[in-house]
Amino acid sequence: MPHQRRIEGLIADMTLEEKIGQLGAFADALRPFAFEVNPETFARDAEQVREQIRSGRVGALFNGVGAAEGREAQRIAVEESRLGIPLLLGADVIHGMRTVFPIPLGEAASFEPDLAERTARATAKEATAAGIHWTFAPMVDIARDQRWGRVAETSGEDVYLTCEFAAARVRGFQGADLTAPDSLLTTPKHFAAYGAISAGLDYNFVDMAPQTLRDVHLPPFKAAIDAGALTLMSSFNDINGVPASANRELLTDILRGEWKFEGFVVSDYTSDLELVAHGYASDEADAAQKALSAGLDMSLQSGIYAGHVATLVEQGRLTMAEVDEAVRRVLHVKAAVGLFDDPYRCLDAEREADQSHIPVHDALARDCARRSIVLLKNDGDLLPLKKSGQRIALIGPFAQDTANLGGCWNIFGDAARMIDLETGLLAALDDPSALTIVPGSGIEEALDGGIDAAVAAARGADVVLLAVGEPHEFSGEAQSRTQIVLPAPQQALAEAVAATGTPVVVLLRNGRALALEGAVRDAQAILVTWFLGTQTGPAVADVVFGDYSPSARLPVSFPQDAGQQPYFYNHPASGRPNVPGTPRAFQTRWREVTHAALYPFGHGLSYTRFDYGVPQLSTGALGWDDTLTIRTRITNAGTCEGEEVVQLYLRDRTASRVRPVRELKRFRKITLAAGESQDVEFTLTRADVEFHGVDNRPVAEPGLFDLWVAPSSAVGEAVSFELLPR
Ligand code: BGC
Repeated sequence: MPHQRRIEGLIADMTLEEKIGQLGAFADALRPFAFEVNPETFARDAEQVREQIRSGRVGALFNGVGAAEGREAQRIAVEESRLGIPLLLGADVIHGMRTVFPIPLGEAASFEPDLAERTARATAKEATAAGIHWTFAPMVDIARDQRWGRVAETSGEDVYLTCEFAAARVRGFQGADLTAPDSLLTTPKHFAAYGAISAGLDYNFVDMAPQTLRDVHLPPFKAAIDAGALTLMSSFNDINGVPASANRELLTDILRGEWKFEGFVVSDYTSDLELVAHGYASDEADAAQKALSAGLDMSLQSGIYAGHVATLVEQGRLTMAEVDEAVRRVLHVKAAVGLFDDPYRCLDAEREADQSHIPVHDALARDCARRSIVLLKNDGDLLPLKKSGQRIALIGPFAQDTANLGGCWNIFGDAARMIDLETGLLAALDDPSALTIVPGSGIEEALDGGIDAAVAAARGADVVLLAVGEPHEFSGEAQSRTQIVLPAPQQALAEAVAATGTPVVVLLRNGRALALEGAVRDAQAILVTWFLGTQTGPAVADVVFGDYSPSARLPVSFPQDAGQQPYFYNHPASGRPNVPGTPRAFQTRWREVTHAALYPFGHGLSYTRFDYGVPQLSTGALGWDDTLTIRTRITNAGTCEGEEVVQLYLRDRTASRVRPVRELKRFRKITLAAGESQDVEFTLTRADVEFHGVDNRPVAEPGLFDLWVAPSSAVGEAVSFELLPR
């Protein structure tokens, strides 16, 4: 292997300082930088960074943008540093670059991993043209507590759905060839169990059973690695008292030992230094020693490797072999993405200036956005609205708003191209004068006279589109909420508008599942519109006026009440289950609300309706090494074409550990014309019923399983099959 020889040659030639340099990533002070992202420790000036590069003391820069300036930084690394090792240029390119696609949670609602693959591909083209090699994405954490602000960045509460999206996004960002000029190296994050922080409070502790770690939180990382990811980011949290960024079991035993991962692990932003605040390390040097020896290869921004690793080696607290191994992994990745062969890849100013791809990406953004919108309810077929002959009042603080379209982690998005609701709806109407627009309320504060104006507009209209919800800053890092409800002034606006009696369609803006209340919950129709990105207005108009029949499904359960969190459909079975229709005093229940979700995981309507036949199994007794085929007839029983997400769930009836009440195992989105039927076929094998047993090894246990083919996690009739012994 020529690269291996080159890497070993370099390691043999490198001073300890140069080795440590490769293990440090720092904020990119040479290029326009997204300051608002990580403001706290941004303290370097450009000349300092140039000098660092020249002396081989930095291996990667992050969150800068621009091909020309990036090329200059690379030139210094390649031509002026002693060994000429190229820099890796990273950034948080999460759900789009210049063109902003829906937040990952919204895109997951499409239940179309191949769509996520295409948006990731488009994003990679734009990011690599702008001087970026490496993205800190996809986020593959499982989010089961909607109070957490980072739910927006995830694919929701389900393991299988998250795995499918994790793999698709890795394929999309990286493409088929890591050395191609438009391939963007990925960093599945945050390894691991960051989504399980207690009480949904960001950075909080994680207390986790080993089987939950392995059954729920690790599989998406494995899926991403199997799809070709070569770097991972460690998480801020501890797990059972050991911080993830110094967790040998995770970073070495599982990742390298069990999974044979060959890439490198980068810390989260100063998460290595934070071992001190955790009380897991006594000082910076102790933190560097614990992190590096546990398997954390690259330090992001804290500088503690640069500051202490040399002394630690001199003192014998770290071995040169440990340092070499981390350097080897970093250089291996740099080689794998082609930087040694072409250090100037992704640094072409002409390519950056070429905007000819934008129309195609806009069209993709619109299609992705409308495919991400979930229709929760549609009483009396209020939707779709007519493009003429109906007076429509667009009311709410998001009616004319472009500041809250991108969602969290939109740091490079082209603000000028964002299309708001008003613009999108006006463009779709045959008679634009049919639309009246009134904000009615601010996002978090009432507007003087706002409600009166809104009520007047509602009275004068045949239907209200009520654009309410969360601003973008309610989601993202350090944005946990205690009450996942609408801000009070918006709720008051909704109550007043509903009291007019004019039918209301809620256009909900949200970065998490919300607990809908009062007039919002009781509106005739509700569309979940997340943060949809650049093409928000046109996409919402497509759905509102029926140019597109909604096809998205909830990737997170909408609870009845905020106090039910954490609330997720695939929870372990209780000994006193709450069986709808058979009330018992002493059962799993809340006093105030019913146990069922208001809208369960997997739920979503379209403008037509689908009938499900009884699933036909190829056998009721599945042999140990055999394949079970399940065929279900789906019929479009409505009057227009539509798409249905056919979902297959399983339950293990009896096992050596308490198993979830249902788990998604397969899904497929199909398109059917009015009246058309299709047999949808899924196959399962023993691998699909495996879980981690009492010894924490994967096990499949013979016995009975319930199986549903259904339109959501809360409905459908079960059929059963038996897995026969080996
Ligand atoms: C976040 C990461 C992000 C990193 C770099 C951290 O605060 O947790 O998700 O990639 O900053 O910006």
